[in-house]
Amino acid sequence: MSPFKLIVLALLGAQTLVVGAEPSNPGETKAIANPSAPVAGGIPSETLTALELQGRQLYLEGKSSNGRPIVADREGGIKLRGQQAACVQCHLRSGLGGVEGNEAIPPISGRAIFGGGNPVIVEVDRLFNKSLSTPPKPYDDKSFRSAVRLGQHVSGRKLSALMPRYELTDEELRAVSAYLKTLSKTWSPGAAEKEIHLATVITPDVSPERRKVFVDTLNAILNQHNVNVATAGKHRITPIEKRLHSRRTWALDVWELNGPSSTWAEQLEKRQQEKPVFAVLSGLSESEWQPVQDFCEIQKVACWFPSVDLVPEEANKGKYSLYFSAGIQLEADVISKQLLSTSKKPGKIVQLIGESALAQKAASTVRRHLAKSGADIQDIVLNQSAADSTATLLKSLKPEDAVLLWLKDNELNNSLTGLAAPLSAVYVSSTLAGEKMPAWSVDWSKNAWLIQRSELPKMRSANLTRFNDWIRYRQLTLLDEKMQSEVYFAVNSFSWMLSSMLNNLHTDYLIERAEATLSMREAMQVQEEVQSMMMGGGGHGPQPVNNSSKSKPTAHKVDMDFLMKRTGTTAYPRISLGIGQRFASKGAYVRPLVSDMNIAESGAKWIVP
Ligand code: HEC
Repeated sequence: MSPFKLIVLALLGAQTLVVGAEPSNPGETKAIANPSAPVAGGIPSETLTALELQGRQLYLEGKSSNGRPIVADREGGIKLRGQQAACVQCHLRSGLGGVEGNEAIPPISGRAIFGGGNPVIVEVDRLFNKSLSTPPKPYDDKSFRSAVRLGQHVSGRKLSALMPRYELTDEELRAVSAYLKTLSKTWSPGAAEKEIHLATVITPDVSPERRKVFVDTLNAILNQHNVNVATAGKHRITPIEKRLHSRRTWALDVWELNGPSSTWAEQLEKRQQEKPVFAVLSGLSESEWQPVQDFCEIQKVACWFPSVDLVPEEANKGKYSLYFSAGIQLEADVISKQLLSTSKKPGKIVQLIGESALAQKAASTVRRHLAKSGADIQDIVLNQSAADSTATLLKSLKPEDAVLLWLKDNELNNSLTGLAAPLSAVYVSSTLAGEKMPAWSVDWSKNAWLIQRSELPKMRSANLTRFNDWIRYRQLTLLDEKMQSEVYFAVNSFSWMLSSMLNNLHTDYLIERAEATLSMREAMQVQEEVQSMMMGGGGHGPQPVNNSSKSKPTAHKVDMDFLMKRTGTTAYPRISLGIGQRFASKGAYVRPLVSDMNIAESGAKWIVP
């Protein structure tokens, strides 16, 4: 058995333990009979006092007010300086901590350590079990100084060696404690005692048919969440969640944007002012998403796994937006890597570019990557008037040349008449052309590749067994498996994260939870699904009596071998995040473009650029 499997099984064991487990120290948590919610509303940084701002700089950057890097001692005589020593490295932006290796990092927000309000209780996911933080007896200024300087817990015990010992002045310590008191003080907007307010965003380019299917899918899974909350007794809910009343129903608004993208920011802000949301849950766009990401960053609202192929520039630098993958630019990254790494450099590289924004983005990304390589690269934007000159150019290509096809299915068929095989490489974008064998590709048995971000067909259908059963059971129209399964995952993963957040409804914390636990949580889900199938449930929900005529679910033939080997629950191969990572799936397949699926799959390589 692989080490990975061992871990997963241990996790599963741990989870079953936790479901029935009481908090490690029941005496401490009994006091929370009636946890009343902190008032909603964030604290914009402008309202911080000078002292709090000093504290923030120390906490986040490890710099004291005069710009001097702070210094701390670590076990074994190691000195930490500046950013390395910043509290945020371990206690995180929310101040609510997490896990480092197998060691719990406790919450140190003001309420958590100085008291004054309900105790802060967080779930700590250690590698092999899960537990709850035990709120300490409140610190005062003096005991806080001893903790940070000398590593002394308020109870008198020594803090673990992982917590560095800091050389900080009284003034610096006052600044940090003032900042801690502002951290995770009030819930983020949109969170309330009984209900979480959410929105999803649809951009105007989406067709009415796709819009409807998207909204229907989203509502179906959301309703299911709400029904589960309403009938909590029958569903798995941990004792601590019961005690804290931390399972909440969700209310979703559909924000349909209209007009040019330059006006979207205003539309989004207006909506947020009228009725603030805690997160933008999923979302759908076939063109731009940048204004939506900008909105999330400015308003500090989580943008939770939208279904978009054109991911904004610098999405990896955002704090609040999580994506399935880097979109079509990732295909461009992978192709560029392939072109730059082959031992035999291609002669001329021709990009045929369709009229969509996606195609143009992809082509410009390749151009940027290859700019310094000295490659001879030529871009042709396909349109009717250029058809003749394009055909002439394609005919003139030599065997050492390469062609990149940023074309949709219909564009492909029309424009390649002049193209003669073989070339050194032909790359086809699956985001644009789809994942099926294009009709024209029969002649391309050699050196033609499909670039595909999602999982290969057999494994993908194994991954999506539960999803497809659910679609059938709910009698939903299956129009676009990738998009709808993304919606399904977005809602489920949001639910996992929220339930593990207990009563700490802070956007920073939500993102931190996802960074730290998304892949672990998905692995648990896989095990759960596999187990339920082995126990005869098959993961197959009851079959609907009569299928709606529009719904044409694919025949359900999933290979058992693949079912057992699978690692995911999405259309993507592996999902994982880490601190600061914004894309859950990081690579793409380069798959031979041949009609024999077995060859196509066995010859596929997963490339992470
Ligand atoms: C390298 C990781 C790391 C960094 C950096 C770090 N801490 Fe800690 N901190 C810990 C760990 C681990 C504990 C828990 C130790 C224990 O309970 O034995 C802890 C505990 C604490 C406690 C006691 C909390 C309690 O529940 O009693 C305080 C207060 C604290 N840290 C403040 C700070 C401040 C302020 C900074 C920055 C100036 C900081 N820490 C930086 C790892 C870190």
